[in-house]
Amino acid sequence: MLTTLKEVLAFAEEKKAAIPAFNIDNMEIVQSIIKASEEENYPVILAVGQAAIKDGKLALLAATAQVLAKKSPIPVVLHLDHGQSLEQVRMALDCGFTSVMIDGSKLPFHENVEISKRALEMARAAGATVEAELGCILGVEDDISHDDSKPFLVRTEDVEAFNRAVTVDALAVGIGNAHGIYKGLPNLDFDRLSEVNDISSVPLVLHGGSGIPGDMIQKAISLGIRKINVATEIRLAYVRGLTKEVESGDFYTMSNSGKAEVVALAKEKIHLFKNGNV
Ligand code: G3H
Ligand code: ZN
Repeated sequence: MLTTLKEVLAFAEEKKAAIPAFNIDNMEIVQSIIKASEEENYPVILAVGQAAIKDGKLALLAATAQVLAKKSPIPVVLHLDHGQSLEQVRMALDCGFTSVMIDGSKLPFHENVEISKRALEMARAAGATVEAELGCILGVEDDISHDDSKPFLVRTEDVEAFNRAVTVDALAVGIGNAHGIYKGLPNLDFDRLSEVNDISSVPLVLHGGSGIPGDMIQKAISLGIRKINVATEIRLAYVRGLTKEVESGDFYTMSNSGKAEVVALAKEKIHLFKNGNV
């Protein structure tokens, strides 16, 4: 069934676990992620990111996700990832999204607060939830990149001030996590995550989930991470499956192989994010 971040993150908090936010980039990946989540009997967040939007797929992916979510027994959130503007938030809400991220992390702090407030008004009017971001996610993905000359680490004073100014439903934090493939081991600042968790009144989100080793994922969950975004590994799994069967020359042999790879990876991530508590 379709639901919002509020319900699934409350479940995650109760279980001291994290909910996966898998990016969906085509119909087959939507089918595969829903299948994996149903087999694991676990909530899932379907995230539509900037590359899919740029590829003209916002409404198409929203429709696919809603058809499958409405038939599914598990809680499914349809979430705009890294929303770049209030116009994008409006477009997503008009397509039936049940949750939106407004990514004001590159704006001056007070502008991030203001745009998050506006997005919250719009989302609440549609019965949807909102994720915001403080600090920056390193790396590059879907044209979202971080200028390495600029600070990235979330500041506790900003979290306190942000939470006083606007009550969102989830807060993505920059702790050294990066979009895309990590060059070497991720260098996550768990001390900063712990400090933020101690003062945050809303569930925390870890972006750049691809390539983070299991022990670091479990440590992040123990320090308050309740939503973990994974895009790159899902995309690569699908392509890997296709290419594995390219010799078959048969479309559905290749497509089903891609779907099988996504199902397997999604189940592996869900199992990890359950953190042994579900
Ligand atoms: O917004 C998307 C996520 O942060 C995905 O990051 O591609 O490194 O898994 P990832
Ligand atoms: Zn992200």
